[in-house]
Amino acid sequence: MPLPSTIGADSTATPLLAVRSLQVTLTLPDGTIRPVDHIDLAVDEGETLCLVGESGCGKSLAALAILGLLPRPYGSISDGSVRFRGAELAGESEARLRKVRGREIGLIFQEPQSALNPVIKVGAQVMEAVRAHGGSSRAEARAKARALLAEVGLPAPEERMHAYPHELSGGMRQRVCIAIALAGDPRLLIADEPTTALDVTVQAQILGLLADLRCKRGMGLLLITHDLALVAQMADRVAVMYAGRIVETGSVTELFAAPRHPYTRGLLDSLPDRRTDRAGEPLRAIAGTVPSPDKLPSGCRFRDRCAWATAKCAAVDPEPTPIPPASEHLVACHHPFRRGSEPRGDAAIDEKERE
Ligand SMILES: Nc1ncnc2c1ncn2[C@@H]1O[C@H](COP(=O)(O)OP(=O)(O)OP(=O)(O)O)[C@@H](O)[C@H]1O
Ligand SMILES: [Mg+2]
Repeated sequence: MPLPSTIGADSTATPLLAVRSLQVTLTLPDGTIRPVDHIDLAVDEGETLCLVGESGCGKSLAALAILGLLPRPYGSISDGSVRFRGAELAGESEARLRKVRGREIGLIFQEPQSALNPVIKVGAQVMEAVRAHGGSSRAEARAKARALLAEVGLPAPEERMHAYPHELSGGMRQRVCIAIALAGDPRLLIADEPTTALDVTVQAQILGLLADLRCKRGMGLLLITHDLALVAQMADRVAVMYAGRIVETGSVTELFAAPRHPYTRGLLDSLPDRRTDRAGEPLRAIAGTVPSPDKLPSGCRFRDRCAWATAKCAAVDPEPTPIPPASEHLVACHHPFRRGSEPRGDAAIDEKERE
């Protein structure tokens, strides 16, 4: 079935990143799985898109697919397209993808420790990244590395250039990784759970830094997280992922004010500060777990965990459908919530609402 032609970003301009109908296949000894199954995403210049969902939804594989970093030889893009500034990346050669990574798209992982080489001083690692992206001399690379380390707020950058990764705190290591990601002056930064390994105060500092950098450099930011509190703080738009699919996309304001998908609503209900009306009650996490890609139910993948599922949900896989008046807000559910109410157990989005 055809998917809507645009999701989210302004349809009149070419988005910085446009992912259309992306499918990832892993060919494993026990069989073939499709942990990312026809997803659409778009990120504009200067915009933060948060990709959110529970563990195992396919968020990291989606990011790796965009960057051409799927595990080899068993991982591949089996359908769809990944366009960066209008140019197709899916199926591109490793040589071309290597140029895109770092120079046009920067990447930050969850664990700064494993992203750095433990036996090379951090200054040299940032210099190496700078030199990999342009023909700068050693002195120029050194000056740029120092400037980058200052830009990411590493205290006493000149001295710290001589430190080994283990001599830095987790937060400082993540700052170094961000400096490395910025070395090629990318237009898009992809950050996969960049603060999960850090304590809460440091998390806030790193998020503040990412927000500042995005704003100052006018980059797009694709921020992957399972933490909706972080989404509220950082996102312009949000894509909610469940079991390999995007189940809801919209502006952060719209999505938090009027979540339409029961999964989004469930995630939001587990946020403490949204529940002041129910103070004292335990947090309502969504019962059950995400199905693994080899054990997906028929129809809607969320139906086993959904209080509103009907026979239609077991029979028909719901497609992302725009919700008027904000055509940027899409939901893949047969019985989406109306604004602020319980979902209907009858038809999909009703015709009046469609107009
Ligand atoms: N290398 C692999 N081999 C086999 N299965 C994999 C591999 N990588 C991912 N998967 C499976 O694909 C699904 C999606 O994984 P992915 O790592 O993308 O999830 P995620 O949303 O990033 O989760 P998390 O929040 O825990 O990082 C999971 O069911 C996972 O078990
Ligand atoms: Mg992940």
